[in-house]
Amino acid sequence: MRIITSIEEMEREVAQHREAKSSIGFVPTMGYLHEGHLTLIHTARKENDIVIASIFVNPLQFGPNEDFDSYPRDFERDEQLARNNGVDILFYPNVNDMYKPDFSFQIKVIDKVDVLCGKKREGHFDGVATVLIKLFNITRPNRVYFGMKDAQQVAIVTSVIEDFNFPIELVPVSTVREEDGLAKSSRNVYLTEQERQEAPNLYYGLKMARSLIEDGERNPNIIRNKVIEHIANHTSGEIDYVEVLSYPELKEQKEVFGKIIIAVAVKFTKARLIDNITFVV
Ligand code: PAF
Repeated sequence: MRIITSIEEMEREVAQHREAKSSIGFVPTMGYLHEGHLTLIHTARKENDIVIASIFVNPLQFGPNEDFDSYPRDFERDEQLARNNGVDILFYPNVNDMYKPDFSFQIKVIDKVDVLCGKKREGHFDGVATVLIKLFNITRPNRVYFGMKDAQQVAIVTSVIEDFNFPIELVPVSTVREEDGLAKSSRNVYLTEQERQEAPNLYYGLKMARSLIEDGERNPNIIRNKVIEHIANHTSGEIDYVEVLSYPELKEQKEVFGKIIIAVAVKFTKARLIDNITFVV
């Protein structure tokens, strides 16, 4: 596995693989790799000649009161994991190279952002879109791999690819869960023991909502309130949102139909967890 920190070197390396007609799968990450990331890497490994993963904690997607400084980082561990799981090139750029002081643009995402995480994290998806446009240009992948745990991110990256005409296929990969159903996340390490016990209830609440719909319930407010009730009764966390929307459009519906997402975000003492399920009604 090659570790590349320089953008120019990365571009040269990619040009060679392009020239050789090798297919490139790209897994962008902010590091502190967990099984969710490794599943993206394994999927990319099966489908491409070359697998590039990036580690870049993108300051642009963190709000002023968010956890940029304390976001978990462990490059040595990440490097080992990337190497042992089939990454060919680990791209680890420097923040000052990615965002030069004279960086002249601001990307503003105008659709699909006023719901779910976008509603409370103003500017978050602008930062995600900005870094991905740069990373897609630098790594020029054929396929990019994103986890459905961040379903809003998947919906927005789909628009980035379409709207900016990137010749890239987005491959959404199902959420990887712990045995008890908790979605894997770098932030799970910040849960207290009690919170860790409670946290699978985010998923149980979502599954209960799906059962309600399967039994015929179509009113999004009733479904939403049942999930809120479940999470409130079974966790000490503070509910940030529970939403029932069309997917990937992320629009409210009067009655649920077609492909939908039920998504939750819950704040625990030191970690804000998100989870969702998408399915066709
Ligand atoms: O999902 C993430 O880890 C980040 O949002 C991403 C896609 C790597 C962009 O910084």
